[in-house]
Amino acid sequence: MKVNIRENYDAMSKSVSDQIINYINNKPESLLCLAGGDTPLKTFEYLVKADENKEVDFSKAKFVSLDEWVGLGSSTKGSCVETLYTHLYDKLSINVEKQVCFFDGLSEDLDKECKRVDEFIGGSNGIDICLLGIGMNGHLGFNEPNVDPELKCSVIPLDPVTKTVGAKYFDEDVNVTAGITVGLKHLLASKELILIANAEKKAEIVKKTIEGKITIEVPSTMARKNENSVIYLDEEAASKLEK
Ligand code: F6R
Repeated sequence: MKVNIRENYDAMSKSVSDQIINYINNKPESLLCLAGGDTPLKTFEYLVKADENKEVDFSKAKFVSLDEWVGLGSSTKGSCVETLYTHLYDKLSINVEKQVCFFDGLSEDLDKECKRVDEFIGGSNGIDICLLGIGMNGHLGFNEPNVDPELKCSVIPLDPVTKTVGAKYFDEDVNVTAGITVGLKHLLASKELILIANAEKKAEIVKKTIEGKITIEVPSTMARKNENSVIYLDEEAASKLEK
């Protein structure tokens, strides 16, 4: 895994956005898989700016969103769908109906949701470029510690750390116990796999991700199996790295 350290969150986000734009400019009909959460927000701002300035054209691309909290939908501020639409999809010059595929966390048939998204990914010949935040416990999407790495789209019970940390996204109390997510099988097969982390609070998990043993106990270490994986960090998140 290539490690790219930038001076701060802003510079890190700009570099991530540049890599994505480059990819799309070379292959406009790509499938992008994008995380919600806090870390990608500045990258999204740069992508929106580039779209406005016509430095990139997403009109032929497809987007699959990484995950959703089971039981939440777009009316909950802080859900993955709300985050992605508010900060990215609604701001890009794309046809959202045709180009975006999202898990419905409110669906009564979550297996069907998994199949639907598996088919969307399969129909595009897999994910081209994937952007993932790193959970405090090393989760990728809702691929929690000790998940089966062979899973495609799946419903996964939430790790206690994810439940506790997840409260930061919501203004109201939400009772979430599971997530629906693109599984590691798809994520690790991405043609380019980008991990991102910023701030001191991520320094420990970043160290494990890069320098620890590759183990499914820390799902983010599995990204190192992908030859085209890269992690972008700000200096604080990189502060515990030895090399
Ligand atoms: C969000 C997601 C999560 C986050 C991770 C980091 O869609 O899938 O895996 O990427 O928990 O979250 P932040 O970026 O808020 O620190």
